[in-house]
Parts: sequence; C-alpha cells; structure tokens
Amino acid sequence: MKSDGQKISMVTCYDYVSATIANHSNVDAVLVGDSAAMVMHGFDTTINASLDMMAIHVGAVRRGAPDKFLIADMPFLAHRRGMKLTMEAVDALLKAGGEAIKIEGGEGQFDIISHIVESGVPVMGHLGLTPQSIHQLGGYKVQGRENSKATSLQNQAKELERAGIFALVLELVPSRLAEKITDTLSIPTIGIGAGPKTSGQVLVWQDVLGMNNGFNPKFLRKYLNGYELIANALNQFDADVKTQKFPSTEESF
Ligand code: KIV
Repeated sequence: MKSDGQKISMVTCYDYVSATIANHSNVDAVLVGDSAAMVMHGFDTTINASLDMMAIHVGAVRRGAPDKFLIADMPFLAHRRGMKLTMEAVDALLKAGGEAIKIEGGEGQFDIISHIVESGVPVMGHLGLTPQSIHQLGGYKVQGRENSKATSLQNQAKELERAGIFALVLELVPSRLAEKITDTLSIPTIGIGAGPKTSGQVLVWQDVLGMNNGFNPKFLRKYLNGYELIANALNQFDADVKTQKFPSTEESF
C-alpha cells in the first residue's frame, strides 16, 4: 500500500464483539495493543499487561475478526527474559491468533527482532513514545524534538528496518521527523500523534469512538461520541424500566 501511495488504517481492538465490527469495517489492520491494560483493565500504564492477558484478548479478537490482519503486542519485558522465554511468548501470541507481533523500542532489540523475523514471524516496530518505558521517558511527552534525539530515532528506525520489521509505529513524534523517517524507509510507518505524512494512522478503539470523556489529547479525532451515546441509551433503559415501558407485551412470552 505504501508503494501504491495508499494510506493504511489500523485500530486497536481487544474483545470479540468489537472485533466483529472491525471485521465488517474497511480498516486495514487490527492491533491487539498492550493498551488493553489501560482501556480494558483500568491500569495507569501498559506495564500491567501480561502475556496471559494479551493472549486472551488476541484470541477473542481473532474469533471476531477472522478476515483482518492481526498484530499482537508483546507485553512489558516479554522479549527481555532470554531467547527461550521470548520465543515462547511469540509462540503463545501466534497460537492465540496473531499473525504478527509488535515490539517497542529500537536500541537493544535489534538482535532479538532479527531472530524472531528469521523464525518466520512478521514483526512490527514501535518508536517515539514507547509507553512500556514510561518511567524512563518521564511522562507521555512528544519524543524527538531535540536534534540529537531526532537523529537517534532516525538511526534506530533504519536499524529496525535492517533487522527485518515489516512496518513501524511512530508514536508522539513531530510531524517533520515522522515524514523524514517515512521517506527514508521502504517499509510503511503507522503514526499516532505523528502528523499526516506517515504511511498510515492508528488509533485506540475507545479513543476513536469517544468512549473516554476525560481523554482529549491534541492528536485525537473522535469519530463518535460513544460516551454520551451509551450513557443516554442506559438512561433511556433505566427510565423505561422505572416507568414500566420495558418490556412491552411484544417483548414478553
Ligand atoms: O498498545 C497500543 O495500543 C499501541 C498503539 C497506540 C500503537 O501500541
């Protein structure tokens, strides 16, 4: 799609029913992100995502979206515990239904990514704001504003491409830097908070559907006011129960 000049759309997804909707949509790819820990389980960071948690979500999404290209996120430290445990984690995510995995970070990951790719597993990279390193990065801030950091991100992107990744997520980086990286790579880049010049865009399911009233970062466009629509529907249900409008005789046996 990148070489054809077509933009790529990707959404995250975590559960079966939502996946059936994604499957019915035109989006190109589905990511079972470790953001599941936050948006599905209420943790403050993605550090709480475990391999078991990810495998359960990957399985549910695979069953709901059998026709979509499905990428499974490697959770925190799953690829930093030695080769054997890393490959067991990859195995678990692919057996659960992933067709590819995503690994955060560049420096320190090139050899393991090469090994996974050489083992026949497509790997997506992820640079910029890498949420699993949030305590090292010191917050959810735009990455690569300084020249030295921008150069380092460009070099790491190149090195990840050499290691064999098939695509690269760029999260919270200045548009100009994302464009530069996209232009120097032959693989596609998928941006989130990385401006319009990446090869595609990814948004988190709950964000794109406006389910979280309190989350309004600059990069987010909400395509539905999910929070309000669902709250209104629940209030309508509550009112109908209390005024005995539900269930009607037609809705009863
Ligand atoms: O876990 C996730 O949802 C992600 C996307 C934001 C790219 O990594």
